[in-house]
Amino acid sequence: MKDLWFDPGKCLLGGAWRPPAGGDSLPAIDPSEGREFARIARGGPTDVGAAVAAARAALAGEWGRATAAERGRALARLGRLVETRIEDLARLEARDVGKPLAQARADARALARYLEFYGGAADKLMGETIPYLAGYTAFTLREPHGVTGHIIPWNYPMQIIGRSVGAALAAGNACVLKPAEEASLTALAFAALAAEAGLPPGALNVVPGLGAEAGAALAAHPGIDHLSFTGSVATGRAIQTAAAANVVPVTLELGGKSPELVFDDADLEAALPFLVGPGIQNAGQTCSAAARILVQRGIHERVTAAMAARYRALRAGPALEDHDLGPLISARQKAIVEGYLARGRDLAVAGRGAIVAGAPAGGAYVAPVLFDAVPPEHALAREEIFGPVQVIIPFEDEEEAVAIANGTGYGLVAAVWTRDGARALRLARRLRAGQVFLNNYGAGGGVELPFGGTGLSGHGREKGFEALYGFTRLKTVAAHHG
Ligand code: NAI
Ligand code: MG
Repeated sequence: MKDLWFDPGKCLLGGAWRPPAGGDSLPAIDPSEGREFARIARGGPTDVGAAVAAARAALAGEWGRATAAERGRALARLGRLVETRIEDLARLEARDVGKPLAQARADARALARYLEFYGGAADKLMGETIPYLAGYTAFTLREPHGVTGHIIPWNYPMQIIGRSVGAALAAGNACVLKPAEEASLTALAFAALAAEAGLPPGALNVVPGLGAEAGAALAAHPGIDHLSFTGSVATGRAIQTAAAANVVPVTLELGGKSPELVFDDADLEAALPFLVGPGIQNAGQTCSAAARILVQRGIHERVTAAMAARYRALRAGPALEDHDLGPLISARQKAIVEGYLARGRDLAVAGRGAIVAGAPAGGAYVAPVLFDAVPPEHALAREEIFGPVQVIIPFEDEEEAVAIANGTGYGLVAAVWTRDGARALRLARRLRAGQVFLNNYGAGGGVELPFGGTGLSGHGREKGFEALYGFTRLKTVAAHHG
């Protein structure tokens, strides 16, 4: 690909761009066309080892010596540089991931915002003094873990780099980033910008490659002090197992089957845009997608009709043409989603969108589908589909709504739409989820809002100030002075 400002065939190791030790490369595929448009480095264990060593060296050098304010300034500078490159980053991401240009721009802006937020937070991360015995002063220090490993997926590369690497750097760690093999270009582009912004060498290292090679090597590396992972439950288990061997902490964000509960007394005008939008955003390949719409019987028909009308207008097409949806990330993901659609043959389809005429035949397009009156025990109502598919599930009352909402193994996000303030707060407590939205769904993006799951959705919190606690360990100092 022409006009890249970095060489995607290389790894960033200690401030130097190096070809992977194995000399091999992987295709970067444009899912809008199903065609290779660049080659990326196929890093492996040797490159991961070099990256971990470079990160360790950075902690012993300029990066480790930087004050909290200096770290914050470096991140803020990088955030401002990202802002000047939003269009470049967005076009690159749209091409590589297949996300509509508007979504790709929003992701790039979110990356800049994370850097602004964590840049500003770096020197506000404090310990506490603890009332203790007479003649003692006791206090806590927040120390970085050291070298942190970041294994990220392909659905929101820029946002996840921002919330993961941004917070880890702010807290004083040095990072090794393994982007997804399906979408490594913006990670490499970002690393090039970090160098340009003056982030000291080795503070951020990037090793693209396959999950089973570079990913597994990073997860198992004894020099890693903390791992954060976003992706599938199966890979999350493998990473937690690998971390167990080295006895290091992990943060896992493993997706979900998030419900929105819509009660008879809801403001439907306000709710409707938040029922379809968060379900089909990024073609439904979103960990926090609003996959289940639980509707009280009295408004079931109205809500279904309104959502179905919206669905009929939805169009999927090439990312750079900026339709409602792009293609899915890959032919493989398309096959997974089509498998679910086949399992939904027995269900009622309320509404279906379309693929634009002239969309390239090799693209991984799936027309969005809204299923109605889906039994809560049906696979489509329980399993994460990761495609443009939503299910409507009717309920009688609050008890039944809570039972259905809490009835999958996941627990990432939930929303409640009601004008009854007491019910909203009651349900906020009863719903099994790391985030509960009352009369909205993810409005504003939520850089500031701690985020993470329970159950199969994972554990640990990213985003907001809370993420900084996860990227530090606490040391207690108790001094006897008489
Ligand atoms: P995945 O979880 O296998 O891949 C995510 C990341 O993990 C990639 O960087 C990959 O290279 C890496 N990885 C894979 N195997 C690894 C291993 N053994 N050790 C270390 N790293 C490894 O997800 P995949 O296969 O791309 O997608 C499959 C399903 O996972 C999707 O259909 C979706 O349901 C779910 N998923 C959830 C995401 C979320 O945001 N929670 C993001 C991506 C996928
Ligand atoms: Mg790609």
